[in-house]
Amino acid sequence: MTDALLLIRDADGIRTIAINRPDKLNALNAATLDALDTAFADAAADASVRVVVLTGSGPKAFVAGADIAEMNALTPVQGRDFSLRGTRMMRRVEKMPKPVIAMVNGFALGGGLELAMSCHLRIAADTARVGQPEINLGLIPGFGGSQRLLRLCGRAATLELCLTGAPITAERALQLGIVNRVVPAADLEADTMTLAAQLASAAPLALRGILDCVNIGGECGIEEGLEYEAAQFGLVFSTQDMREGTSAFLEKRKPAFNGK
Ligand code: COA
Repeated sequence: MTDALLLIRDADGIRTIAINRPDKLNALNAATLDALDTAFADAAADASVRVVVLTGSGPKAFVAGADIAEMNALTPVQGRDFSLRGTRMMRRVEKMPKPVIAMVNGFALGGGLELAMSCHLRIAADTARVGQPEINLGLIPGFGGSQRLLRLCGRAATLELCLTGAPITAERALQLGIVNRVVPAADLEADTMTLAAQLASAAPLALRGILDCVNIGGECGIEEGLEYEAAQFGLVFSTQDMREGTSAFLEKRKPAFNGK
């Protein structure tokens, strides 16, 4: 499927969604936020989609931020609504029942880093630059940046990135725990697709259990989180895939998971 704002393609259980405003470095305007919301709802509902890869079109940017031209004229009430629109969409990404990988092919700034952080895994090209430059515009992060960065890498780095607005290299983002892997730009797509293929062949309901444990259990105290994990652990014993995975191990063969 192709439309003006997103390029979407499917192959072997992997849905790739590319934000398609390369002339604006894939800046997130309201229409793009809405298109992403719909695209992720569709990917969540489609059982043939096992993994989602999110990236930006063109050679320069993943996403260079929320659309500054659109924000320039907003009233306070519209600003709040714009923030909620992005936050709602990114929360949907974060709570997706299947893995979402951000393939960070260039600038991931402001809303771009916020969007990447709402994905479950981030693979960055060594040429990528990430940051929260809102302060340079007299703004603050508005799509969850202060909250997700804090949870990913702690107060010191969060305050440094948000207060200075200075972008950092992919390598530094790796050191800080903001991205999972950094690869040469030429290898980014192949390496991301290798990881996506690995996840696409894993047991979908077990993947979902892990995502739920981290998303839901991770927001509770340790007692509730451990109880939640135990309940999810019990639940996977109801799946055919758990019988298949354990049997395949005992029979010394590769498992074939069917998502049931
Ligand atoms: N919102 C709207 N338009 C944006 C944008 C954004 N966040 N980021 C880039 N663009 C547009 C530019 O206005 C330009 O459009 P034009 O050709 O019509 O003038 C186009 O994308 C290319 O950007 P340009 O600035 O010319 O590219 P560059 O390579 O010189 O610089 C950046 C790249 C990323 C350093 C620079 O675009 C930038 O600082 N962008 C804003 C980053 C930001 O503050 N994001 C947080 C927003 S809250």
